[in-house]
Formats: sequence, structure tokens, C-alpha cells
Amino acid sequence: NKVWAVVPAAGIGSRMQADRPKQYLILNNQPVIVHSLQRLISHPLIEGVVVALSANDPYWPSLNLPSHWPIHTTLGGEHRADSVSNALEFLKNLTQRDPWVLVHDAARPCIRHSDIDSMLQQLSDDPVGGILGVPLSETIKRVNADNTIEATVDRTGLWRASTPQMFRLRGLAEALTQAKQCNINVTDEASAMEFMGLVPKMVAGHADNIKITLPQDLALAALFLQQQNN
Ligand code: C5P
Repeated sequence: NKVWAVVPAAGIGSRMQADRPKQYLILNNQPVIVHSLQRLISHPLIEGVVVALSANDPYWPSLNLPSHWPIHTTLGGEHRADSVSNALEFLKNLTQRDPWVLVHDAARPCIRHSDIDSMLQQLSDDPVGGILGVPLSETIKRVNADNTIEATVDRTGLWRASTPQMFRLRGLAEALTQAKQCNINVTDEASAMEFMGLVPKMVAGHADNIKITLPQDLALAALFLQQQNN
């Protein structure tokens, strides 16, 4: 059974201080988002991708993606969760089914097929779904406004949440709608599911699935792409 992918790509990337949103910066001769999309559509179990874009995005049309790529576009929203919601509504109009959906940041170009495979293997029979992540490797401090250290947080059981985040189309759409109605600020899909009282799983991924956020991340991603062989 095939799954769908949703790619929120409507962010402006203010932390990057670049002339364009980070998903359109060039990495190894092609825009970051093209790497991300290529990794998704070349996976044999992904049927197609819905991409959420900002209104009048001038960069998307000039990507000139191959016309046979199974990609649909829709309008993004103010926050990442709004962009994902819009893409899910679009997908509901495309299919009567309730497929698994992999929500993946446009700004994560190093996603490996082997990590997608781990998710599909570990989650396809799960009642809820789950996300890809990595255990924290650094010591974590809680810091006060005056930069004094308040506490060292016990790292046991703490993970970084990344993407893809894999949930069923209809359940995820409903969870995001409920969270929005209740004014809950969700920064990932799993938090919306948790808000519904559901228990998503964590799937261990590779640490090279970084989100391009700061200028130095591009150089790191270039190195990772070069080193990867799956
Ligand atoms: O800004 P952040 O790093 O959290 O963005 C993660 C992903 O969500 C990026 O791919 C960005 O383009 C997307 N996004 C979006 N709509 C927004 C904000 C961010 O699609 N309003």
C-alpha cells in the first residue's frame, strides 16, 4: 500500500539571513527543496507529494521540475501547521482513501531512503503513527533570562524530533484542526496527535537528517550528501 508525502515549503527562513527562503538556497548545484523532493519521489512506496507554497512564490516556477514528477502544489499558511493543514485538505480531495502521510520539511534535504524504510516498517501496523528522531547527544541546560544556569536537565529519554512525521491523512487533519481551534501552538504534527490524547512512536533515524536553518548548515548538508550511500 502506497503512502503520500506532504512538504511544507511556505516558510520565509528568517534565521538564515539570506536573500531567499532557505529551501531555495543552492546545495550541490540544486535548490535544497529539489534534493528533498527527489529523495521522496524516488522512494518506491511514495505515490506522490503535495507541496505547500507561499502566495506568489517567485522561486517555485523557476525550479523547472521534471513534468513526470507526481507533485501537486497548494497554498501554505501563516504557521507551519497551517501549511500542513492546507496540504492535507488538498490531499483529501485527491483521494477517498485514508493513506499514511509522511510530512517532511522542505528544508531537510539529507533524508535517507533507509530512514523512510525504518518508519514504514515500524509504523505501518501502528494504530497512531510516529516520527523520526535522534536521541540528544549533548548535556542540556535550562537557562534563565540573565544567562545564569538554572538547572541541568536529565537527558535520559530526550530526543530531537525531526521529519518525516507519519500519520493517517484523516486523523492528522482532524488533530491539526482541533489544536488550532483550541489555540494550541503545535510545532510538529506529533504534538497535535498528542493533544488528541494519542501516543505516537519515535523511530530512530540518522543524525545527518538536519534541517537547514543557519548559514553553516548548508556546508554540513553538502558533506552529508557526499558521504551518504543510502
Ligand atoms: O521555520 P521552520 O524551520 O520551522 O520550517 C520548517 C518547514 O516548514 C520549512 O520547510 C518551511 O518552509 C515550512 N513552513 C511552512 N509554512 C510556514 C512556516 C514554515 O510551510 N508558515
